[in-house]
Amino acid sequence: VDIVGSGPSSKVVATLASGESVEVLLYGATVTSWKSNGGKTENLWLSEKAALDGSKAVRGGIPVVFPVFGPPPKDHTTSSLPQHGFARSSRWEFLGKSASEDALGSNSVKLDFGLYTSGLSEDARKAWPLDFGLQYSVTLAKDSLQTVVSVRNEGGQSFEFQFLLHTYLKVKDISKVSIKGLMGVEYVDKVLNASTHNQSDMDLKITGEVDRVYKGIPQDTTTVVEDEKPRFDVVRDNLQDTVVWNPWTEKAAAMGDFAPKEGFKQMVCVEVGTVNGWQKLEKGEVFEGGQTIKSFL
Ligand code: BG6
Repeated sequence: VDIVGSGPSSKVVATLASGESVEVLLYGATVTSWKSNGGKTENLWLSEKAALDGSKAVRGGIPVVFPVFGPPPKDHTTSSLPQHGFARSSRWEFLGKSASEDALGSNSVKLDFGLYTSGLSEDARKAWPLDFGLQYSVTLAKDSLQTVVSVRNEGGQSFEFQFLLHTYLKVKDISKVSIKGLMGVEYVDKVLNASTHNQSDMDLKITGEVDRVYKGIPQDTTTVVEDEKPRFDVVRDNLQDTVVWNPWTEKAAAMGDFAPKEGFKQMVCVEVGTVNGWQKLEKGEVFEGGQTIKSFL
């Protein structure tokens, strides 16, 4: 494990003996690269114009969304926060690494990051004046990446939050991609005026702008299939919702940090989280949730 650079662009890099690697920017604890297949396959899409200097949330990789998803609602404790909250644009602490080997001799490395009330900008602390502690563990194994958060209420009163892992999965050609494991699930379609629908097709194909919040998903796994072969399994752990997002032509063109402009053909966001209503934590309570992404390449 190496800490590369200093200041706002420093990142933690870990590599397994077999070549797989992960890179985590301290800014946002954003995973910006995850390579499997002996280091030959990059699994995460990262914009060529993503800010990696701490000036702006990263466009790509795995930004952490907390304590609110999307634009905050009116009349809520999160109302004064920016879209998707402050976790993705705060500098986290690196708490250390631990390596382990399973019974079959397969190695993994776990990197731990922390963000506490004391680490927030003054603006964020003012906008959300609650005492909390976030721990975020990123575990790299041969064919998988696990990212898990624990949220602790460190204050004297209860608080409410939402949490989501805004994963940008990299694909070769979006026209050959379908997403499975959402059949029968109710979703809010943000492209269609936040109307509610039911996923009636087994396969979700991305042929235009998609921005859907699938709610209360009973099954654990969402599978991204490319060229009729499984490409990723995204497994939810104590998280019931999943957002599927692709900005497509116009929205991609409107984002200054989205490059290349045709890059939306090489990505799809499958974002696991708890964003339907609020998680409530009483003082001293802890919530834990996360994902394991398996790469088949
Ligand atoms: C998704 C939302 O999670 O994030 C979209 O569902 C939003 O509505 C997208 O456009 C990107 O958000 P941002 O703040 O990173 O541009």
